[in-house]
Amino acid sequence: MKVICHIVLFSLLFAAAAQGSKPSLKKAFKNKFLIGVALGDRTVRDINDEIHKSINHHYNSIVAENCMKSEKIQPKEGKFDFDAADRFVEYGETNDMFIIGHTLVWHSQAPDWIFTDKKGNDVSREVLIERMRIHIHTLVGRYKGRVRGWDVVNEAILGSGELRKTKWLEIIGEDYMELAFQFAHEADPDAELYYNDYGMDNPGRRDAVVKLVKKLQKRGIQIDGIGMQAHYGLGLSLEEFEKSVSAFAATGLQVMITEFDITVLPFPSQRIIADVNKKYKYLEKYNPYTDGLPNEVASQQSFLYEGIFKILLKYEKSVARVTFWGLNDANTWKNNWPMKGRTDYPLLFDRNNKTKPAFDAVIKLRQ
Ligand code: GLA
Repeated sequence: MKVICHIVLFSLLFAAAAQGSKPSLKKAFKNKFLIGVALGDRTVRDINDEIHKSINHHYNSIVAENCMKSEKIQPKEGKFDFDAADRFVEYGETNDMFIIGHTLVWHSQAPDWIFTDKKGNDVSREVLIERMRIHIHTLVGRYKGRVRGWDVVNEAILGSGELRKTKWLEIIGEDYMELAFQFAHEADPDAELYYNDYGMDNPGRRDAVVKLVKKLQKRGIQIDGIGMQAHYGLGLSLEEFEKSVSAFAATGLQVMITEFDITVLPFPSQRIIADVNKKYKYLEKYNPYTDGLPNEVASQQSFLYEGIFKILLKYEKSVARVTFWGLNDANTWKNNWPMKGRTDYPLLFDRNNKTKPAFDAVIKLRQ
């Protein structure tokens, strides 16, 4: 009996040591920046031991993939549904994560009612401002002191640098962003507040974001960070990426990578964008790696991941967080966007949640 106990004890210790010795993203970048991951409701609700351990091993921050978007939180006026968001926040608290709420004001995944009256006509500026205020106060207020940072406005600026023509802009006017930040600050004065957008390597958008931040700062509106979504592809110019990190850092705000992934698949349009409303018909030529990722493509991806992390380390004083958009290549949104049913490989973990060459390239920077 004693011998068996010893054997069991020995194997438990051995297993713990093996897990502990596996490189960890959050440990590798400790004292540099937080390492985060987006979690979907299904992941949180049906979490299994292996995934739970892996989340705790690699990440110290989580962001809500979908459950805090306005269409989920307030599908009907005044009818709030916090089930999934409560689960998400509880999971983050139990595991001592820096919790990020995503997102308060966005043109997409917003419920139709928010912009219209009973007859289907656009509401007035006053009504929309009040709806925005109630939405933000209710959501941010519920998680006051628990959600530490909010993506307040998402994707408001076009690549050209112009403001995106959304219902928020059309009905309220340019100050809708300012109002959104104000309402978020009122609801939780201690929460960090961010502007978040994709294609932030684009010079037009870069300049416009810097201008927006300066304008808000001048008016005394609280804004703490600039979120670069970083849904990239293999064509990314590291030079343009660095220019943006540098320009954003120069505003004095925190810079964060908020939705990181690097697709390896061809995109059916010139620039890799992340406009979730753009969808294309499935064509086989856009799905070339169904039998596995060729080594040379994996190397290109590793090169980019490594290059981006090198730049982030160079600006470590300004970079506060790097968050990946999904856990692994099996559950990434990229398998179904911009067309359904593809086999993509955009993350650091493969379909079995095992580390990939890109993971090794990133970890190597800190060894
Ligand atoms: C954008 C949004 C995210 C998510 C991704 C696609 O980047 O900010 O919330 O919807 O698109 O998954």
